[in-house]
Amino acid sequence: MYVNVAILKETQAHERRVAMVPSVAPKLIKLGAKLHMQSGAGDAIHLPDSAFKDVAFINDFKELVGDADVVLSVQPPAPEVIGAMKAGSILICFIYANKEPALVKHLLERKITCFAMERIPRITRAQSMDALSSQSALAGYYAVGLGINHLTRILPKITTAAGAIGPAKVLVMGLGVAGLEAIATAHRLGAVVEGYDVRPETGEQALSLGATFVETGVDARGPGGYARELTPEEKTKVAAVLTKHIQQSDLVITTASIPGKPSPKLISKAQVKGMKSGSVIVDLSAEGGGNCEDTKLGETLQVGQVTIVAPLNVPSLLGEDASTLYAKNQYNLLALMMKDNVITIDWDDEILAGAALTHDGRMMDAKPKPEGKPASDHKKPVSKVA
Ligand SMILES: NC(=O)c1ccc[n+]([C@@H]2O[C@H](COP(=O)([O-])OP(=O)(O)OC[C@H]3O[C@@H](n4cnc5c(N)ncnc54)[C@H](O)[C@@H]3O)[C@@H](O)[C@H]2O)c1
Repeated sequence: MYVNVAILKETQAHERRVAMVPSVAPKLIKLGAKLHMQSGAGDAIHLPDSAFKDVAFINDFKELVGDADVVLSVQPPAPEVIGAMKAGSILICFIYANKEPALVKHLLERKITCFAMERIPRITRAQSMDALSSQSALAGYYAVGLGINHLTRILPKITTAAGAIGPAKVLVMGLGVAGLEAIATAHRLGAVVEGYDVRPETGEQALSLGATFVETGVDARGPGGYARELTPEEKTKVAAVLTKHIQQSDLVITTASIPGKPSPKLISKAQVKGMKSGSVIVDLSAEGGGNCEDTKLGETLQVGQVTIVAPLNVPSLLGEDASTLYAKNQYNLLALMMKDNVITIDWDDEILAGAALTHDGRMMDAKPKPEGKPASDHKKPVSKVA
């Protein structure tokens, strides 16, 4: 017996990652998987098929997924891929169901069990499966690099015979996983770093990474450890404090987001106008609508003397490391279900129940114990007999 696992080549624009890497493949095989990958799946990160041992490569996606018990990818696959999957098989990838209604309908019709990587609960036991965190940490690091590329000055203090220059001032707004990594990176590179968030507990985290924290007096802790939207009065109060910090910075990195809502606007057009000549904003929340009013998704803009960088799919720009961490996240999730060469889904496990999007033609509740928990197939093995 073995579990037939297929890994797709990504086809979406700007996606270089791949859901399997050579260091993770043997671990999955050890759990009882037989691995099949789409030919050239690692090409975008210079990972040739020959780098994988004991993995069969298949070019045609229909042949690849038609007999698979589990299909792995980074982005949601094209509808024709889902159409070629066998009923009752498992798909694991990022989905963001609210943006993909047609795809979700297809998953339901095909009775695919879909685990959405973005739905994995943010709990301690699930940290090793938390792809939102692994990918955000890389994005936070990379944001500093993007900023450096557009600055015309250096981050650290450097002393030469002609005199000393630096350090630069960096402000990081939004101190989730990406923001904290941006602080750590900018601090390591010698910048003077400030952090700001509406969740007060992030103040201590910023301090522990070498930054100071901008206090605005507004506490906007929301449900589940996330932030809530600010009221108009709170926005005014915050802007009054932040303007000075934004306008004294050389590099501003923004990462703020609120689940299910457009990115909050933290930097207005008027604040951009008052920024220092040559300063740079890197807006990591551009895909959610942007934290700066001037942000244009996927573009690098010059607004007066300020450069605003709004990159697309930042983790993909670090595709090699992002793929390694993502593949480990998926392996750790699969390890919850794979035992003795079969897949057994324990719907009482809050991680599996929380990450499940569709099962057996039904939408699954995001809450730990899904309503309509399947009774007939509870802990039923999904396996492949050799
Ligand atoms: N396994 C775990 O325990 C685990 C793992 C990762 C993250 N988390 C927690 O999940 C939460 C979300 O983390 P994330 O990285 O996904 O965050 P996120 O991407 O949802 O948001 C980024 C940051 O933006 C902040 N923000 C929102 N509105 C803002 C505003 N108007 N002004 C300034 N900042 C604003 C949020 O507070 C958050 O810190 C955090 O509490 C984090 O500690 C827990």
